[in-house]
Amino acid sequence: MSDKITVPAIAARKQAGPKIAMLTAYDATVARLLDEGGADILLVGDSLGMVIQGLPNTLPVTVDEICYHGRAVARATRRAQVVGDMPFMSFQISPERALEAAGQMLKTGGFEAVKLEGGQSVAEHVRRIVAAGIPVMGHVGLTPQSVHAMGGFRVQGQREDAAARVLADAQALEDAGAYSIVLEGLPADLGRRITESVGVPTIGIGAGPHCDGQVLVCYDFLGMYRDIKPKFVKRFAELGDAVVEATKRYVAEVQGGAFPDAAHSFGMKSGPSDPTGAKAVVGQAPPAYGPARDES
Ligand code: KIV
Repeated sequence: MSDKITVPAIAARKQAGPKIAMLTAYDATVARLLDEGGADILLVGDSLGMVIQGLPNTLPVTVDEICYHGRAVARATRRAQVVGDMPFMSFQISPERALEAAGQMLKTGGFEAVKLEGGQSVAEHVRRIVAAGIPVMGHVGLTPQSVHAMGGFRVQGQREDAAARVLADAQALEDAGAYSIVLEGLPADLGRRITESVGVPTIGIGAGPHCDGQVLVCYDFLGMYRDIKPKFVKRFAELGDAVVEATKRYVAEVQGGAFPDAAHSFGMKSGPSDPTGAKAVVGQAPPAYGPARDES
């Protein structure tokens, strides 16, 4: 029986637990590892603009780019739910345009659901997408696609009037049919209040411990993205340091002649070549990709 995490299974976690553990992923190799580690949801976030493309913000990311990375992630993921982030200007213009873009993401990106930023102003867009049978995850609070309107990546909802607006945004998304809502960059107390006020799971990033789940950008949680370290990021590994260290050792071994040694080199074989190559394939499907193997 498949242990695939479905949309209804995520919705049920609000009551039944355990908390939802979501991470971003952008490629097959990392997605396979995060899936094996038990992540419940893999989000192909538009954060890829910053951590993959080296941009200062997420605004230039396109639907085609999200779908390209989505296909890679979906191909490698067995259990986790794969969600695609709707990029800036793919959904804001109208509910019709939003539905068209969401449909394209499910048809060509391998996604099981889409996520989009905004609250009351996009409630109709969410309603339209959900009515077409496409599950939608909302995203309120610090919405990075509004970086210029917010005056930077700033914590939201710290004053009562602003908190009331974020709460109303979350409620509007639930009313419109969103099956879960990301809460980003909010005071922990507001994260708790929203979580208690809506009937769908909240997934926090910098919104305190009371949410129904948490999400982190994989390059942050692995310690690989070191340009910015927001307060809410906890590094569960220091792979950035490990990569720099490994690169130094590699450079030294290449330059010193220690790599490649005999254990990492191929030998010659006696007799003529097999012109059909038949021996290499009999009884064995070729891997989708893999290391160079000795010719048999
Ligand atoms: O783009 C992204 O990675 C996100 C998550 C951080 C929630 O929106």
